[in-house]
Amino acid sequence: MLNVFEEVTALNEAVASYFIEKANEAIKKHNKFTVALTGGSSPAGMYSLLTTVYKDAVDWSKVYVFWCDERWVPIDDERSNAGNAYTDFLNKVAIPESQIYPMWKEGVAPEEYADTYAAILEEVLANGKTFDLIFLGMGDDGHTASLFPGEAVIEEQEKKVVAYFLKPQDMYRITLTAPLINSAANVAFLAFGAKKAPALYEVLKGEPNVKTYPAQIIKPDTGSAVWFVDAAAAEKL
Ligand code: 6PG
Repeated sequence: MLNVFEEVTALNEAVASYFIEKANEAIKKHNKFTVALTGGSSPAGMYSLLTTVYKDAVDWSKVYVFWCDERWVPIDDERSNAGNAYTDFLNKVAIPESQIYPMWKEGVAPEEYADTYAAILEEVLANGKTFDLIFLGMGDDGHTASLFPGEAVIEEQEKKVVAYFLKPQDMYRITLTAPLINSAANVAFLAFGAKKAPALYEVLKGEPNVKTYPAQIIKPDTGSAVWFVDAAAAEKL
C-alpha cells in the first residue's frame, strides 16, 4: 500500500501513529511488541513524536527493539544505527535496556554475532516467531536493510541474519534477510526526498530485477508492505 504525503508534518504523524497502532495491537494480542528499526534519517520525525506527543500512548515496558541492519561499528560511533536511535528515541522512553538488542557486540566476529542475533530472535519473538513490525528505509540505489545491489545476501534463503564484508564500503554489515523480513506481520518502508524518486519507481513499477533494486525482494507473506513516502520521492510514480 502506497501512502504519499505532501506535508512532512502529516507524514511524520502518520508514521508515528502507525507505530502506536501496531504496538497496541500486538500488546493486546500477545502481551509484547517486537519491532525492528531502520537506520538513516527518515525515522527522525517519528522518533520526535514517539518521545513527546505519543510518549504515554503505549506501554513501553512491553516493547522489544531490534534493528533491520547495522554497520559493524560500536554504538558510540556516529555511523551506528543503534547509537542514533538511542539518542533520538530509546533514551527518552521507558523501554527496559534488556529489551533493546543492538546488532553489534564488542570483541565478537560479525559472522558469529549474526548467528547469536538469530538465536536471540528465536527466543524473543512471539507471534509465530516473527516480528510484529519491521521498519525499512530505502537507499537512493534501491538497497534496503543491508541488502545492497549485486550482493549474494539479497537471495539468502536459509539464514535469518547475515553478516558480510561489503567491499564498496570497506566495512562489515549485519542484516536481517529477506525471508525473515517477509515473514513479519507488518512491514513499513520510509522513503523521503527527490533523490529516492528513480529507485522508488524501479522498485514499485519497474521490471523485476532484485540484483539491481534489492528492495523489490521485500514482498511480505501477509500481503503488501506499507510505504510512507513524500511527494518528492513519489514524483516518478
Ligand atoms: C545505511 C543506511 C541506509 C539508509 C537508507 C535510507 O545503513 O547505509 O542506514 O540503509 O537507511 O539509505 O536513508 P534515509 O532514511 O536517510 O533516506
